[in-house]
Amino acid sequence: MDRLASRMAHIAPFEVMEIQTLARRLEGEGRDVIHMEIGEPDFTTPQPIVDAAIRALKAEPMFYTSALGITPLREAISRFYLERYKVVVAPERIIVTAGSSAALLLALGVLLDPGEEVLLSDPSYPCNRHFVRAFDGVPRMVPVGADEHYQLTPELAAANWNAKTRIVMVASPSNPTGTLVPHAALAGLHALTRARGATLVVDEIYQGLTYEGDTGTALALGEDVFVINSFSKYFQMTGWRLGWLVAPPAYVREVEKLAQNLFISASTVAQHAALAAFAPETIAIVEERRREFAARRNYLLPALKTLGFRVPVTPEGAFYIYADSSGIARDSESLARDILERAWVAMTPGKDFGFNAPERHIRIAYTQPVARLEEAMKRIAGHLRGC
Ligand SMILES: Cc1ncc(COP(=O)(O)O)c(C=O)c1O
Repeated sequence: MDRLASRMAHIAPFEVMEIQTLARRLEGEGRDVIHMEIGEPDFTTPQPIVDAAIRALKAEPMFYTSALGITPLREAISRFYLERYKVVVAPERIIVTAGSSAALLLALGVLLDPGEEVLLSDPSYPCNRHFVRAFDGVPRMVPVGADEHYQLTPELAAANWNAKTRIVMVASPSNPTGTLVPHAALAGLHALTRARGATLVVDEIYQGLTYEGDTGTALALGEDVFVINSFSKYFQMTGWRLGWLVAPPAYVREVEKLAQNLFISASTVAQHAALAAFAPETIAIVEERRREFAARRNYLLPALKTLGFRVPVTPEGAFYIYADSSGIARDSESLARDILERAWVAMTPGKDFGFNAPERHIRIAYTQPVARLEEAMKRIAGHLRGC
């Protein structure tokens, strides 16, 4: 390679993909691997959404759409906010994107100047710090632990603030910890960013997947918050690549310009399919699956503790448990590898999610039916007894 942009020195591979590669190799050798590494529901896309896609393929021309998305979908998302969360969000503020990944890129792209800083919790979703680097910004990873429910607090944000701080970014529920930002903390972060001329970006991609009551939306705080969302998780549409961004009114045109240039538009067939996402029959399906996720979590939490993992804070959402594995092994990366190679259970070591004691943590995704989770626990127990 003759020349590589210096920013690439800060872009790490997605570790979970490396685990998946090893898992696939073992499967190629005939092993039955239990996949608890990937952050993706095991359920297929609800049938009403698939049917809507097929209808659209037959009836609609699959041309590019507006970079903002098709109007009926923007209106449907707006109605969803009103009906479910009692929050008025004008459809004009909703930009349909290629997954929340594109929404995160667009938000950072319109907000961040080179050298400016973004406050993020450590641990957090790995791509975020790399997205910041892609715009030549600086991710400031703030260590958070059980005492803070693994989330940024206004106090931590204030303590880590400097003249270059431009954005505070949180995800609620979080990946990898499944914890929420309590409403008071979110309001505090909003007040802090507003007072200091910065912006709050809230990733609500796991919205709907909560097990101790729904949490509302950060959009209720005011029009100046950027909110990211997706059809990937609650609606089980990961591969369709569809999400959205809600931007403050004054930013919409800027987001549109950037979206036109970066992506042209989100997938046309996926947008038509997603029109069926908010229909009562689809909501009935995804709510049933939400209850199934809750049952899996409720099985797994005590089972992991019996094996010697510590889970100091009950994860209230998403489909992850971020367990402290330090009572079992000194290094979670070799633990994950050993368990994969010898017990054929795939999990993601903490290394993916930041620099805050990653060797003590492992992320377990409960994206398998309870019977498979039971089998995974049995295999891990057997492996640990043999260690
Ligand atoms: C916190 C968080 N944000 C964003 C994403 C990106 O998802 P998508 O682009 O499929 O919407 C993920 C995916 O796992 C995630 O966990």
